[in-house]
Order: sequence, then C-alpha cells, then structure tokens
Amino acid sequence: MIELTVNGIKRSVDVVPEMPLLWVLRDELDITSPKYGCGVAQCGACTVHIDGKAVRSCQAHIGEVAGKSVVTLEGLDNKEQNPVLQAWIEHQVPQCGYCQTGQIMQTISLLARISKPTDEQINQVMSGNLCRCGTYPRIRAAIHAAASKKMAEK
Ligand code: FES
Ligand code: FES
Repeated sequence: MIELTVNGIKRSVDVVPEMPLLWVLRDELDITSPKYGCGVAQCGACTVHIDGKAVRSCQAHIGEVAGKSVVTLEGLDNKEQNPVLQAWIEHQVPQCGYCQTGQIMQTISLLARISKPTDEQINQVMSGNLCRCGTYPRIRAAIHAAASKKMAEK
C-alpha cells in the first residue's frame, strides 16, 4: 500500500510504485479534474500541486509521491471566493475546457510565488500549458485580474 494525502484526506492505494500519479487520481480515486493530454510532460493538462508546487502528474510516479500532499482543483479551499476561479468566470476563459484545470492549477502556483506577474513572467510560467482552443489572451487577462483581486484583499 502507498499512502498519500489527496485534497486533505489520507488515502491508501494498492498499485505499483511506477504508476503515474495521474492514473492513480483518475482511475483509483475518481478525481477527474486533471486531464490526460500528452503523457510526456509537454502539455500541462494533468497539472496538480504536490506539497504546494505545480507538477505534471503524468510524469510523477506514485512511489515518489508517497507521504506527500496532493491538491487538485476539487480540493481548492473556498472555491466561490477563490480569486483565480472568479477571474476565470469573469473573463469567460474556457472554450472546450479540456486544458483549463491545468491552466488554473499552474496559475495558482504562479501567483503564490509572484503576486503581480508581468506579461513576460506569465508567458514564461504558462508556456508549458498548451491550449488547443487558443484561450491564451483570456488566460493572461484573468491572471492579471486575479493578481489585482489578491492584492486588493491584502
Ligand atoms: S498529460 Fe501531463 S503534461 Fe500532458
Ligand atoms: S479550452 Fe480547449 S484546449 Fe484549452
């Protein structure tokens, strides 16, 4: 058994240590917000937080995640008040939506490190999160809006 904490709850999974975290979340724990896009850390659709850091769950073996804390979109605190989720709604960011969980989890981690990112910083951090629908301008606008909201709350 491999033990880890997912969205604040201790979980045990009986799988091989080489299994990717993304497989464990979706197939073993029924947590479906992280998506399979490429499987090789090139698209960001599977992004979750491990111990507070944005990680591509398709490339994190569950054996390496043992004992750590994983947070997915489902586990975000206080969703209605979350400035990133509010900005996403206000700017109507998603089109098909497939990439958006990864975009949001990457954005939360970006804003935790850089409270008021520039366009260049946004482009640099978000460049690994691909969107086939091309929502990049709205993602950037929503990140600026979320940063302003966070600053206003302080
Ligand atoms: S599915 Fe993990 S980065 Fe594409
Ligand atoms: S919203 Fe469709 S892939 Fe990004």
